[in-house]
Amino acid sequence: MLGRLANKVAIVTGGGSGIGEAISKKFAREGASVVVVGLDTDPVRAVVDEILGSGGRAIGYLGDISVQDVAQDCVKATVKEFGRLDVLVNNAGVFPATAELDQYPVDAFEYMIKNNIYSAFMMTRAALPELQKTKGNIVSAGSEAGHMGSPMITPYGGTKAWVMTFSKGLAVEQAKHGVRVNCVGPGPIDTAWTHKETGPMNQKMEKNTVAGVPLGRRGTPEEVANVYLFLASDEASYVTGATYFVDGGVTISKSLPGEEVPSHLKQQPAGQIKLEHSKDGNTKVREEAAASMS
Ligand SMILES: NC(=O)c1ccc[n+]([C@@H]2O[C@H](COP(=O)([O-])OP(=O)(O)OC[C@H]3O[C@@H](n4cnc5c(N)ncnc54)[C@H](O)[C@@H]3O)[C@@H](O)[C@H]2O)c1
Repeated sequence: MLGRLANKVAIVTGGGSGIGEAISKKFAREGASVVVVGLDTDPVRAVVDEILGSGGRAIGYLGDISVQDVAQDCVKATVKEFGRLDVLVNNAGVFPATAELDQYPVDAFEYMIKNNIYSAFMMTRAALPELQKTKGNIVSAGSEAGHMGSPMITPYGGTKAWVMTFSKGLAVEQAKHGVRVNCVGPGPIDTAWTHKETGPMNQKMEKNTVAGVPLGRRGTPEEVANVYLFLASDEASYVTGATYFVDGGVTISKSLPGEEVPSHLKQQPAGQIKLEHSKDGNTKVREEAAASMS
């Protein structure tokens, strides 16, 4: 199959929902064999079936990749099935709570350390020997919150800052092995996390989060996947240690510029990929909420 990832094998963690669904499908469209990784409660099987139904190549892998043995087994299963590993996408993550820090639930903090930090560490550690063989690359999920810090989600921002700094150090360390390492830093994206009905934000936080974006809207998962695709492809052969923000400009914005954007300029692009699996599965609620905010 021709494409920008022809003959490549990619692992996409958290690949069964939200941004990960878009990355899995985009990579498969561009010729990659994709290992869609998620928890056993994630719609991994459905995403794999949809890729296969579109003529792509994919397998699913179910497990908690923050656990060392599981991460190692995931890489082993990938190489057993497809013979090699070229790209690791550390996209899995969680966003469990919003609160001022004196009220921030300790178990939510620990949950983020496990799923945002341990998962990236364990998968990267397990994948590096295979990536060194193929001169492959890693693309990980940072966040605008990891760059700037964000009130009410300060520990979440901290976990994402860890991913971003980890990636920079790794880029320098692994350059001698021919392995590139980059990050994508999304702003508010149209997944369950950024809607009050399906994520931890209240109405005020949801409204301000979108109004703070100069482009005046959430990004789509596919718009984020487009940048993952570039960084993972050989077109980015001179890019390492970088964080590419896909944030509608939020990292350079002040006040609430999104409120000044007229509604006809806030329309999301239609995209090319059929995406159906948000973590909560409640796409209709999110579509109605998006319409009521425009
Ligand atoms: N949605 C946003 O606005 C936004 C903004 C900035 C960054 N991000 C980052 O993008 C990534 C994806 O976010 P999303 O909105 O698509 O979320 P999502 O909840 O739809 O997808 C994340 C997936 O990762 C899986 N996962 C989490 N921990 C796991 C583990 N230990 N083992 C296996 N699977 C695990 C979840 O079950 C889920 O399917 C996250 O890393 C997030 O921090 C998202």
